[in-house]
Amino acid sequence: MNKEKFYITTPIYYPSDKLHIGHAYCTVATDAMARYKRLRGCDVMFLTGTDEHGMKIEDKAKEAGVTPKQFVDNIVEGPRGVKDLWKLMNISYDRFIRTTDDYHVKAIQRIFRKMYDNGDIYKGTYKGKYCKPCESFWTESQLVDGKCPDCGREVIDAEEEAYFFRLSKYADRVRHLLEDTDFLEPRSRVNEMVNNFIKPGLEDLCVSRTSFTWGIPVDFDPGHVVYVWVDALSNYITALGFMNDQYHDYEKYWPADVHFVGKEIVRFHSIIWPAMLMSLGEPLPKKVYGHGWLNFGGEKMSKSRGNVVDPYILAEMFGVDALRFFMLRTFPFGSDGNFTNELLIQTINTDLANDLGNLVSRTTAMAEKYFGGDLPAGGELTEADRELKVLADEATANYERQMEAFQFSNALAEAWRLISRANKYIDENAPWVLARDEARRPRLLAVMKNLCEAIRVSAILIAPVMPDTAEAIFQRLGVPTDGRVWDAARYDLETDGWWKTVTGDPLFPRIDVDKALAQLEQAKAEAAKAALPDLEIEPYTEEKVDFDTFCKSDFRAVKVKDCQSVKKSDKLLRFTLDDGTGVDRQILSGIAKWYKPEELVGKTLVAIVNLPPRKMMGLESNGMLISAVHTEKGEEKLNLLMVDDAIPAGAKLC
Ligand code: ME8
Ligand code: MG
Repeated sequence: MNKEKFYITTPIYYPSDKLHIGHAYCTVATDAMARYKRLRGCDVMFLTGTDEHGMKIEDKAKEAGVTPKQFVDNIVEGPRGVKDLWKLMNISYDRFIRTTDDYHVKAIQRIFRKMYDNGDIYKGTYKGKYCKPCESFWTESQLVDGKCPDCGREVIDAEEEAYFFRLSKYADRVRHLLEDTDFLEPRSRVNEMVNNFIKPGLEDLCVSRTSFTWGIPVDFDPGHVVYVWVDALSNYITALGFMNDQYHDYEKYWPADVHFVGKEIVRFHSIIWPAMLMSLGEPLPKKVYGHGWLNFGGEKMSKSRGNVVDPYILAEMFGVDALRFFMLRTFPFGSDGNFTNELLIQTINTDLANDLGNLVSRTTAMAEKYFGGDLPAGGELTEADRELKVLADEATANYERQMEAFQFSNALAEAWRLISRANKYIDENAPWVLARDEARRPRLLAVMKNLCEAIRVSAILIAPVMPDTAEAIFQRLGVPTDGRVWDAARYDLETDGWWKTVTGDPLFPRIDVDKALAQLEQAKAEAAKAALPDLEIEPYTEEKVDFDTFCKSDFRAVKVKDCQSVKKSDKLLRFTLDDGTGVDRQILSGIAKWYKPEELVGKTLVAIVNLPPRKMMGLESNGMLISAVHTEKGEEKLNLLMVDDAIPAGAKLC
């Protein structure tokens, strides 16, 4: 029998910076859905990847002094890069596409040509503003105060030759798709698209650029590169082998069952993408789901806002499953959510440590204590058990409905309904009371088996979101492989011979909120510090000093006779120096942060001695000691210039 197929995608990510937990949100959701469908026996194709072309990447590479390809290679494949992050987050993608992959590049050229050949792409002129010194085209809205956003100079009206896609031609069909089908969800995003983009009139879309080169060249008109969104959107089909020979499963998996995308790119996926497919004569994806943003401090988490949360730090402290659970349980998938560390910790403590963790440890501890972990056949069932089963079946059915609607948060709430009920069942049936009476042993056995069964079913429900935790639970209960699949997610009162329980460490240790928050702060500070350059030196002075002026500076070797800290100053040291004249010279120097006074006595230093006298903290300073300064990991370092003690006091340096 042919398995039902399920093709699901994430957006392909821009490797212009390291990814953050906001990026992981969509990928984790997609992963949970892919795992759920696999659990249900579907033949799943889960695609993710990276969107590597465009001016922004070209600029970033230039800044970093590497080629664009070297730049993206590092962020995609390098340490703590995109692929590393997905490994960390336990993302079970089936295929990873990079838009710089050769097969994709060739396929895009063919796709572009096909749309050109059928008349949907035509050559025209792109009217805009031009900054001559920068050789850059700008649109009116990109200008800053009417001037070039790069250099601030005057711009002129200009035209650039460009290709256009007849988006306008598809306006009616796209509108129908959005308004009359359930192509785009949540429904609230439909009005936004229709009112903001379709009603004002869809204009043809500029789909080639000549002002930069990091893109896929239009093969019949070199000098033009394909607009990055045409390149990027097509990944969903090129990765299946559309117009290329790399893969051969386009027929099998297309159309996609769902594209998960962030709300700000819904426009590209629900208007431009279907129009492109219409032009190509290919089937449309079944659904686009526009999820909300993870905000931090009330704003979208993003590198440019500087409010990103590092998934590595969180995963290390709390575990990947806890993080995955938090994201999907706390925030309804279609809405924005505000990420806070407090909320994360609170969720772990309540839902995971208290509810789930305790249920598992109480149950396995009692099974161990009363039955040595081996629950035999038999037992005496009661009405309470049948009630538990009814609730479990209901929770499972609701869970399924919610997952099919991509409502992860509601689905998990159903699993937790069962978990909470099972915890209550322990208290109501008080196994420790039953254990005191040998005659009630059959009842005790049934209670323990019901608890194991409730946990087993819960573990199946949480497996898509917390795969490692589910696995750990199955092992503690001794659930065989056929008890871990979706078809076994039906509460069975007669699961004899399954249970061989073992005890272990708590699945989710309770977190001390204050301690964890402090630890997070520290980890964040350390990570920020580690990201700073090892060594920074002052930029060189451009301005020249003429030789005669320089020669007027009188540098001398001086010997430290005495050195004291200055009262009420945490910066200044007071030096008494032998400068070879026979009269002591006093110099004050703001270096107390780096030196203890006593360690300097006897040293031979360098001073400039013909500066005008200066008063500091009521003391007179006659000159200045010379030191070397640099910055290490963001910290200012200073070393007094010390010279050979064989040099006599007063020797002139020139
Ligand atoms: O848009 N919360 O790439 P991208 C939730 N290359 N989601 C977030 C988020 C946050 N704080 N920050 C980013 C692109 N995302 C294109 C896609 S697809 C053919 C091309 C989500 O790296 C964002 O909403 O800027 C988007 O869905 C995804 O990360 C990739 O963003
Ligand atoms: Mg973006």
